[in-house]
Amino acid sequence: MSGVYNNNDSNLMSQFPSHYTDVNGIGFYITMTHSSNLSEKIAQFYDTSSDLWEQIWGEHMHHGYYGRGGNYKLNRRQAQIDLIEELLIWANIKNVSNLVDVGCGIGGSTLYLAEKFNANATGITLSPVQANRATQRATEVKLEGNTQFQVADALNMPFPDHNFDLVWSLESGEHMPDKAKFFQECYRVLKPGGTFICATWCHRPTNSFAGALTQEEKQHLEEIYRVYCLPYVISLPEYQVIAQQCGFKNIKVDDWSMAVAPFWDLVIDSAFSLEAITGLFKSGWQTIEGALSLGLMSRGYERGLIRFGLVCGQK
Ligand SMILES: C[S@@+](CC[C@H](N)C(=O)[O-])C[C@H]1O[C@@H](n2cnc3c(N)ncnc32)[C@H](O)[C@@H]1O
Repeated sequence: MSGVYNNNDSNLMSQFPSHYTDVNGIGFYITMTHSSNLSEKIAQFYDTSSDLWEQIWGEHMHHGYYGRGGNYKLNRRQAQIDLIEELLIWANIKNVSNLVDVGCGIGGSTLYLAEKFNANATGITLSPVQANRATQRATEVKLEGNTQFQVADALNMPFPDHNFDLVWSLESGEHMPDKAKFFQECYRVLKPGGTFICATWCHRPTNSFAGALTQEEKQHLEEIYRVYCLPYVISLPEYQVIAQQCGFKNIKVDDWSMAVAPFWDLVIDSAFSLEAITGLFKSGWQTIEGALSLGLMSRGYERGLIRFGLVCGQK
């Protein structure tokens, strides 16, 4: 399977065989990865951690939005809803009749969007536990008639071409072992005139002005990859090139790192409640390690290494 890597990521290069190519002046490695193994790990990661996340933090498994400069004081859930609403405004999404939520978690945004737009909504995830819980939640909120959830791979979606008028992906791109194939699939299932929006973890740009990632930055990223089951992340300019190559029109990108970074400090605070600690011990080591490593993300934002990137485009 091919992937797109920043040419500075030598650690990753040693893990996966690859060859170098150059697109519009940006260097890429086309890379072979063991994606089924990764898919199993991601499924297991979410199978074991989703219950606890829902119990402590609710149905949305994504950042919150704290104003453009990150200075609004909001409760965590409101900030998560605000992120969805701000994304809709940013991507100018006003009407939706049939959407797919790629990497849907337990259906937080899928159900929110289905209700808001009175739309048909399909959510896909690698985790059977999440798909079941999302289906159950749809019944609880009486949206089972127009929503469906299934275990499926974003890199090979079980949908015909030109099927959805909105393809929504909130914090799943960072898990994809092949970022180009991921965008190509999103493009394929989108109807002409439909909108694709992707909000995803990125690393800082590595253009000649910003410079290559340092060894220390690469190590920091490696820790994040290991703990959160990510193959690698890329920079926002690299996503922009991929979107152009797929054929998306009216492409927009933005960096909302400042707006979302406060989220992690609030998650860290709540992770120390008795309820969270008890739940962590029941969920197993991988979830405990994820919680112990929450500081990795807040430090990543502080030093400008981790970026919250947005891409939207039309077919
Ligand atoms: C951090 S959660 C985000 C969930 C949801 N978007 C939300 O905001 O609540 C990441 C999700 O991406 C899904 N995912 C990761 N890789 C995937 C793939 N290749 N195909 C489908 N889903 C994937 C995971 O199963 C998980 O549901």
